Amino acid sequence: MKYYLTTPIYYVNDSPHIGHAYTTIAADVLSRFKRLCGDDVYFLTGTDEHGAKICAAALSAGVEPAQFCDRISQEFRRAWKSLSVTNDYFVRTTDERHEKAVAKFLLKLYESGAVKKGKYEGLYCVGCEKFLAEDDLVDGCCPDHKQKPKIHSEENWFFQLSDYQQKLIDIISDPNTGSLRILPAERRNEILGKLRANKLENVSISRSALDWGIRLPFDKTQTAYVWVDALLNYVTAIGYGDDEKAFAGYWPCDLHLMAKDILWFHTVIWPAMLMAAGLPLPKTVFAHGFFTIDGQKMSKTLGNVIKPQDLIDKFGVDASRYLVLSLFPFGSDGDISWQALTDKYNTDLANNLGNLVSRTLTMVEKYFGGTIPERKPSDAFLSVTGPLLDIRILYKDLAFSEILSNIQKAVDLANRHIESTSPWKMAKENNPELSDVLHDLIHAIGHIAFQILPFMPALAQSVWECIGETGRIEESALGYFSRKMVYAPKTGQKVKKPAALFPRIQG
Ligand code: MSP
Repeated sequence: MKYYLTTPIYYVNDSPHIGHAYTTIAADVLSRFKRLCGDDVYFLTGTDEHGAKICAAALSAGVEPAQFCDRISQEFRRAWKSLSVTNDYFVRTTDERHEKAVAKFLLKLYESGAVKKGKYEGLYCVGCEKFLAEDDLVDGCCPDHKQKPKIHSEENWFFQLSDYQQKLIDIISDPNTGSLRILPAERRNEILGKLRANKLENVSISRSALDWGIRLPFDKTQTAYVWVDALLNYVTAIGYGDDEKAFAGYWPCDLHLMAKDILWFHTVIWPAMLMAAGLPLPKTVFAHGFFTIDGQKMSKTLGNVIKPQDLIDKFGVDASRYLVLSLFPFGSDGDISWQALTDKYNTDLANNLGNLVSRTLTMVEKYFGGTIPERKPSDAFLSVTGPLLDIRILYKDLAFSEILSNIQKAVDLANRHIESTSPWKMAKENNPELSDVLHDLIHAIGHIAFQILPFMPALAQSVWECIGETGRIEESALGYFSRKMVYAPKTGQKVKKPAALFPRIQG
């Protein structure tokens, strides 16, 4: 089955930070999981490069916008590579293919009468790249950017969003006719509440005073509003207006993933644009929470921005991926801190998982000369890890932190099994059941390696090799999640003791 999922395309006015990494790692974990289920995954991310905000950032860096975009876009690409992110494509809104396809899409809207000329005057926040209403302001400022919005008045083109109000309510509220699912449910209710309470206003889709954007094909004096340009990345990247066959193969999108800050654009403006163009709607839009650092919003002025490389330097790639998704439930807001990340690393990874692998392999070496002992009479490893929950259900809800705590539970139980059976005593007493205990522990470790694989791919591979396996773990795990979740230890195979998997880290 095909599975097309996207992250937002990130603005290049800023270098990548842990907030962008959070969404991108989550999308990567899901992509890896889906691939292991045998799906034909297309995972898209990229950069959003037009508009006033980027122009201003380039100006203050003293370079041309195009050059500035090249530089920061490259930083995003590198960050994702260094975090083992396996996106299938990286789209840039300055790509020629994207620009041409956006022009085609807008022409279609214009020709169908969905776009009309009008005059607009309002309060515009450059940080948000949108008009704000008086009651959005706090002390006269944009609540997110703490800046006074500028009064902006111009004649430009408007998308007739108000024509879609009832249709949007219908498709979002009715789970049967409604092809657009918004998750989590609270977010869906929020959007529906807003749609029911206020009359939708038409949205301006062009700017006359901004050159750094895509020219409207039907009015060359204007450029496309950056949000309209940006949302279209989801269709242009897979061939809209260029390779219709490829496009039809992946559209509609299975999942748009993002934080709640940009949910309105994705669940109101975007579906309406698609309806106007006669295209099918995305199936699911999931908005995760926003997080703060030590209780505060991340900002350059506060100096608390965490960059992906800072995380990698401290914890390594795989542990960084694990940690960001483990601290709080994916749909909720949360707070993170270096201390919380370090504590979680030491508890879950150094003490629990690292210890299980290292103790087990040491004992296999010591008591069985490093070969996996036989198990007699029957296979009973589940007594070690407890029942393995069907984590596919948790993946369906994108419940990443629950998946991880579930894996930790299994690791914890396996460690307790070591304590309660005391293999060192069994060895002293020549107890023949010692081989069963160690076989079962290897069995548990193999399962845990499969389960942790989408989160920690390199770690899973090295654990795999430690328990005597050869070849890529992905190949053996293919189908693991979609079939019966089976793994069998290779009796008689040599194990390999790893260097410390997770050395303890000082706070
Ligand atoms: N360019 C637009 C998106 C266009 S999509 C068609 C944009 N870019 S952004 O660079 O500001 O990225 C916003 C996204 O970054 C959020 O939706 C979320 O995915 C991620 N996050 C940024 N900061 C974050 C937190 N502090 N917490 C959680 N997610 C964060 O908006």
